[in-house]
Amino acid sequence: MSTDSTRELLRAVGVAPSILSADFGALRSQVKEVLAAGARVIHVDVMDGRFVPPITVGPLVVEALSGVVREAGGALEVHLMIERPERQVAEFAKAGADSITFHAEATPHVAYTANLIHESGACVGLAINPATPVGALAEVADAIDLALCMTVNPGWGGQPFIEHSLEKLPRVRALVGGEVAVEVDGGIDPTIAPRCRRAGASLFVAGSAIFHAPDPAAAYRAIADSLEEA
Ligand code: DX5
Ligand code: ZN
Repeated sequence: MSTDSTRELLRAVGVAPSILSADFGALRSQVKEVLAAGARVIHVDVMDGRFVPPITVGPLVVEALSGVVREAGGALEVHLMIERPERQVAEFAKAGADSITFHAEATPHVAYTANLIHESGACVGLAINPATPVGALAEVADAIDLALCMTVNPGWGGQPFIEHSLEKLPRVRALVGGEVAVEVDGGIDPTIAPRCRRAGASLFVAGSAIFHAPDPAAAYRAIADSLEEA
């Protein structure tokens, strides 16, 4: 998918299912299910056991999903929770990542990494942890397509939403302007999503609220519908 089309998908108000809480034995069919329900951004959480304690998946899983996501006209958004993300950008881009998000806390070379992702042909996302001041986004706001404001401490699905995020989101939005997607990740459900929407978020990652539900497609739609009323 071209960067322009990916940017459009990222910027649209929407829900990005996170496969972290999916059944990995049935990963492709679970992804197909949420794509059929209307999802167009699929969120893949990459953890290295260093930046965050758990280890999850790498480029092989991105590659395994890229076909099914592309066929549906969707985009694969890779959330790198790894140290020195600049060293892995090329591999994830080659595997089919349409957008690559890295953490400001994970490298001293934020501008360099943003540029590397851009040159790889993927959209650029920059993430900040709950305790990281929004100013971490300031000097590169022009170089990113997406700002990810973590609403839990990264590393695990199923954690409760950090309420302080609602005070932070308007500052993130003011800093990056209207053209950049503002994404929230962690503890998002149909009650919390509209509150984040009103605070300035536009893209809503949801893992356990979708994939731990008995009907993931219905759970996806419930969050999407909650945004219509926001
Ligand atoms: C956590 C990940 C999230 C995770 C969110 O570090 O970045 O994407 O899947 O899970 P929920 O939606 O269950 O909080
Ligand atoms: Zn994530």
